Amino acid sequence: MKKIKIYSPATIANLVCGFDVLGLCLKEPSDVMYVKLLDEKKVIINSANGFDLPSNPAQNTAGAPLLEILAETNLQVGFDVTIEKCIKPGSGIGSSAASAAGAVVAANHLLGNIFSKEDMVRFAMFGEKVASGVKHADNIAPCIYGGITLIRSIFPLDIVSIPAPKMWITVVHPQIEVRTADARQILRKEVLLKDAIKQWGNIAGLVAGFMKNDYQLIGRSLEDVIIEPVRSILIPGFDQIKKQCKEAGALGGGISGSGPSIFMISENNNTALNVEKVMRDIYTGIGLSHHIYVTTINNEGVRTEEF
Ligand code: HSE
Repeated sequence: MKKIKIYSPATIANLVCGFDVLGLCLKEPSDVMYVKLLDEKKVIINSANGFDLPSNPAQNTAGAPLLEILAETNLQVGFDVTIEKCIKPGSGIGSSAASAAGAVVAANHLLGNIFSKEDMVRFAMFGEKVASGVKHADNIAPCIYGGITLIRSIFPLDIVSIPAPKMWITVVHPQIEVRTADARQILRKEVLLKDAIKQWGNIAGLVAGFMKNDYQLIGRSLEDVIIEPVRSILIPGFDQIKKQCKEAGALGGGISGSGPSIFMISENNNTALNVEKVMRDIYTGIGLSHHIYVTTINNEGVRTEEF
């Protein structure tokens, strides 16, 4: 029987100023998936570690992209998917994207690598549609490509990999859930021109900072005048964490994806660990349980392994 084991990593969408257009792949955490090729046209979803995932494939973020692959290719095969969730749904570090991208990369492997990376992103976005009602690729693309990606356009897809210097990322996940659909619903539909000018200056500055290995420019550009002021009210301690992490040496950071996780970028591991302590002290102080990752950029993206 053809089968494959998948490690599908967490991702940080938006990177503060780049709402829906920038994303970064993390070394940890990762979901683990086991996918088997079936000789019957169907998709089976199993949860390996107690998460209450929808078993109807059309409503599952891993299942929907696989159904789309079967519909588009008309192949007489199917997939049996077992998901070991390590990235909590509603955490803001790309849980739905990890399931969707992992399923598509597995299917591509089992079908003999018939799809391009761009095709895989297109299929995986059907999973994001299930999760948040909207097709966005700023978690899916870095998950599949690895590293940092710019989604210059979504229809048609135009994905650009952005080289970047070594950076350490500290992510704190307060144990509350923010649904992406809700966090999108509360956003204003129009922006002021003066805010748009600041925002595109920051996006261009951030991309230039990555490409020029200019840590100070990266830090200055991690500013969001459009989304963060609205969404940050959903996240306990957000302003305090951001301020004190920067005082501890972080270049900058903000809401990870649609939250509630908060991420900070540092130039070295020591600073990233100091930032971890700041986050832990603040959340311990207000009695909010939380989980922290200190990690780096994953340049590989979804990884396959024989089992
Ligand atoms: N760009 C999306 C949002 C990412 O911020 O709504 C969701 O993870």
